[in-house]
Amino acid sequence: MKRPPAFPVPSGRAALVPSVLAADFSCLKGSLAPVKKLADWVQVDVMDGHFVPNLSFGPGIAAAVARASGLPVDAHLMVEEPGPFLEAFAAAGAGLITVHAEAAHAGACLKEIKKMGLKAGLALRPKTPLKKIIPFLRVLDLVLIMTVEPGFGGQAFLPEMLPKISAARGLIKKTGRAIWLQVDGGITAETARAAAGAGADSLVIGSALFKAPSPAAFLRGLKRTV
Ligand code: DX5
Repeated sequence: MKRPPAFPVPSGRAALVPSVLAADFSCLKGSLAPVKKLADWVQVDVMDGHFVPNLSFGPGIAAAVARASGLPVDAHLMVEEPGPFLEAFAAAGAGLITVHAEAAHAGACLKEIKKMGLKAGLALRPKTPLKKIIPFLRVLDLVLIMTVEPGFGGQAFLPEMLPKISAARGLIKKTGRAIWLQVDGGITAETARAAAGAGADSLVIGSALFKAPSPAAFLRGLKRTV
């Protein structure tokens, strides 16, 4: 399998990660064109209609996004049983696969993702306590703190997640390992600053980016502030 592109570590700022969920599905290539040179990687939000009350897309779109953007792809699986889909997303070119701590066999999935030579992420719904990540910190490459209830883009950022982000930063620091702290949901120019200030170093941005008059200007502006 072709090795996916490496995930860049931007110096002195958070990584900016467009969420394809908010892009124009009728023209993914066109949607991604203005941002692909400014974004650090891209996220595909996979939804199964069970774990979340919404359906989105599968490995085929992940492969199309990888081709259209040339960026590293991060597959966020909002899927009740992610295990059977890991290989398909790896084959589609995802270099990082995130499963939810609330999903079935999350620990086994993380092991499988690492065995495939990919980066492994673990996501927490807003109500899931942070301590759920502790058993996995020695293998994780990314922790994803959801700042909305997963399932839909365009929701408002939950500010009560800020202490959870800071606490996650503290846990990561104690490991001495380079683990991304990613935040996803309701990221705008304003909430991006708050999230980065609380310790996030990877920001997933959907609606605020793709609905901006100029997505490129939006990302350039963010780069100066996070
Ligand atoms: C929720 C999705 C969204 C998306 C980002 O399940 O994961 O959080 O990626 O969408 P916005 O930026 O519109 O909240």
